[in-house]
Amino acid sequence: MAQATFHFPRGFLWGTATASHQVEGNNTNNNWWAWEQETGRIAQGHQSGLACDWWGGRWREDFDRAVEGGQNTHRLSIEWSRVQPEPGRWDEDALDRYRQMLRGLNERGLTPMVTLHHFTDPLWLAEQGGWENPLVVGYFEAYTRRVVEALREYASLWVTINEPNVLMAFAYLLGLWPPGKKSVASAEKVMTNQVRAHAAAYRAIHSLQPAAQVGIALNCTPMLPARRWFTPDRMVANLQHRIFVDFFPQAISSGVLRLFGRRRRVPEAKNTQDYLGINYYTREYVAFDLLKPGNFFMRRFYPPEAELSVTGHQANDPAGIYAAIQWGLKFKLPMMITENGVEDIDDHLRPRYLAQHLHQVWRAVNFNYPVKGYFHWTLVDNFEWERGWTQRFGLWELDLETQARRKRPSASLYAEICRENGISSEMVARYAPQVFEQMFPN
Ligand code: FCB
Repeated sequence: MAQATFHFPRGFLWGTATASHQVEGNNTNNNWWAWEQETGRIAQGHQSGLACDWWGGRWREDFDRAVEGGQNTHRLSIEWSRVQPEPGRWDEDALDRYRQMLRGLNERGLTPMVTLHHFTDPLWLAEQGGWENPLVVGYFEAYTRRVVEALREYASLWVTINEPNVLMAFAYLLGLWPPGKKSVASAEKVMTNQVRAHAAAYRAIHSLQPAAQVGIALNCTPMLPARRWFTPDRMVANLQHRIFVDFFPQAISSGVLRLFGRRRRVPEAKNTQDYLGINYYTREYVAFDLLKPGNFFMRRFYPPEAELSVTGHQANDPAGIYAAIQWGLKFKLPMMITENGVEDIDDHLRPRYLAQHLHQVWRAVNFNYPVKGYFHWTLVDNFEWERGWTQRFGLWELDLETQARRKRPSASLYAEICRENGISSEMVARYAPQVFEQMFPN
């Protein structure tokens, strides 16, 4: 049997990622809470409720779990609606609570990565049109200033906006998230305002904390033509890739918005990222389809040979994370895998998903691609947006009735990887024997 260890560079960041609304509980003052109260919005009528009860203080025990799990960083987000419950009113108690949390991370030796916007908007902003309203740029900048002033003592690694591309698509194009819009015109406004808000936040952070590292966490779902030889497939795949994957990072590196055949300059956005954050879950094929006029004549599906997650939500396609990293090289920036994980309630797939994806990240690092860290989504099962509690992404299982956490085998595997700063054949033999041969061929 082959024996080897895939080592990562010294100082590699190993952590997990979370988001305020998904873990805090009782986030009653944002657009998601309101959306959850409407019938038919969330799978099985689920609600976020108490979530993982971090606002009640259970962040402490979960940060302890992260440390126990050998991690050296954690990515969390700040809830705008708590910090600024009304226009012009700042909640010092909420800021203080976040200060405690970040101090809690520092004390445990976990480097904080702080996201300023992770899908949720304060109700007052939603009532003013959310991300469609150009005023959001100034609002977001003011909020960012307030947060950075309060927290800069404890954090210097920032994500302005999580998955701007997914927010645009799910909330303003597909109508699945609040405000439930299905409009290309709305989506276009939202993308533009997000670029400008990011740029304003980037500059605000650097003016308050010159040494800060600021970026976005982009959902990178590489889009492949279903049939390479078929020009229409290549055209629709390219179009999807350009709008969904390329648009945002291109805009904030070049200062030019290229959208729906138009070109507009946004000079203030030029060179406003210090690293590229990649959230990778899966890859998709795109085929031209005359029967889908409502879907811009395209059909998207997973690689047919790939194994699907429990609810069919994602494919286990580890080569895609390597492809995503290669795609990111063109920005010539350090990269972070800001999210990667799989929904898997009984943990039958996660151990090998983890081993296979980290193997691909290691390959990239081994070619000196500048990947500096990896954040697994997620630490403990949490509220999964319109899919409610039907999907479980945690290394730890959450019992919603009792708030008890139970360790999944993947948590132990990940802990061994983090502590070793590498993946060994011996770990894979124990936790993911199905992929041993493929990862360590004789
Ligand atoms: C990402 C989101 C994150 C979580 C994972 C599963 O798109 O950023 O909040 O829902 O998917």
